[in-house]
Amino acid sequence: MEIVLDHVSYTYQAGTPFAGDGLRDVSVTIPDGSYTAIIGQTGSGKSTLLQHLNALLKPTTGTVRIGDREITPKTSNKNLKPLRAKVGLVFQFAENQLFEETVEKDVAFGPKNFGVPEKEALARAHHALDLVGISPEYYENSPFDLSGGQMRRVAIAGVLAMTPELLILDEPTAGLDPKGRTELMTLFETLHREQGIGIVLVTHQMEDVANYAEFVLVMADGHLIKQGPPAEIFSDPAWLAEHHLGLPRAAQFARELRAKGLPLPDIPLTEQALAAEVLAILRPTREADHE
Ligand SMILES: Nc1ncnc2c1ncn2[C@@H]1O[C@H](COP(=O)(O)OP(=O)(O)OP(=O)(O)O)[C@@H](O)[C@H]1O
Ligand SMILES: [Mg+2]
Repeated sequence: MEIVLDHVSYTYQAGTPFAGDGLRDVSVTIPDGSYTAIIGQTGSGKSTLLQHLNALLKPTTGTVRIGDREITPKTSNKNLKPLRAKVGLVFQFAENQLFEETVEKDVAFGPKNFGVPEKEALARAHHALDLVGISPEYYENSPFDLSGGQMRRVAIAGVLAMTPELLILDEPTAGLDPKGRTELMTLFETLHREQGIGIVLVTHQMEDVANYAEFVLVMADGHLIKQGPPAEIFSDPAWLAEHHLGLPRAAQFARELRAKGLPLPDIPLTEQALAAEVLAILRPTREADHE
């Protein structure tokens, strides 16, 4: 499902003394089935942009087209349910949204509320819980007795149980341990690759952008200031620093190696790419032997 924002601005608490701009004149196309990352410093408008992608927020001016639905400032809140099922939003600290007595009830709530019969809703819940790595022994537990990481997974399962076409994720791994982070990022990548689910990921982790994203949007002060593939976005470290953004660790390390005289041909973005370049320099003859 393609999403097109056309001159979208959003003002929080418009018409009050507390009014503040969340988005300023943003025009962008998020291609169907893509893996897009949104980066930018704190307060730059990333979460505001994300919430326009499933019409949780409606533009103050401009239009948002989500598949074949057009959202304008005048769009009523009625009939947005099917859209919200297709575009699943995982909030920042999603575990704060849990509320049911048991894990399986919480995950089945969305489908049931959408009119899916009880038995099928539970089957969907179990499948989604399996995807996020929550085993059946937890189904009857209160979600509030789980660890923080498990609660986060249950909340994500609740979104997956709606079988969205597009998954929009607001810093989904914030506060998790390294293993939990990798597991979740791998899950999103698998959903994207194997089931063709589109992903829009808001993140402060440049490694995640380098490892997974096909396309990057950079926000600053409510404006979209740059867009392109990761290699292009990370090609100008001075520009990134100006906007309080960094390079992926592998790229930083490669720059240091280069500064110390190692003749790396270009700046790799991922650890694998860096390792391959270093190996090619250290073992040129062996590489040649293999050919
Ligand atoms: N509920 C709100 N009421 C008023 N202003 C808000 C509200 N939510 C966000 N804003 C303002 O809108 C702007 C964009 O905020 P947004 O939350 O989209 O930024 P962000 O890029 O997601 O930041 P972070 O990285 O901290 O999550 C900020 O100036 C913020 O202060
Ligand atoms: Mg945010």
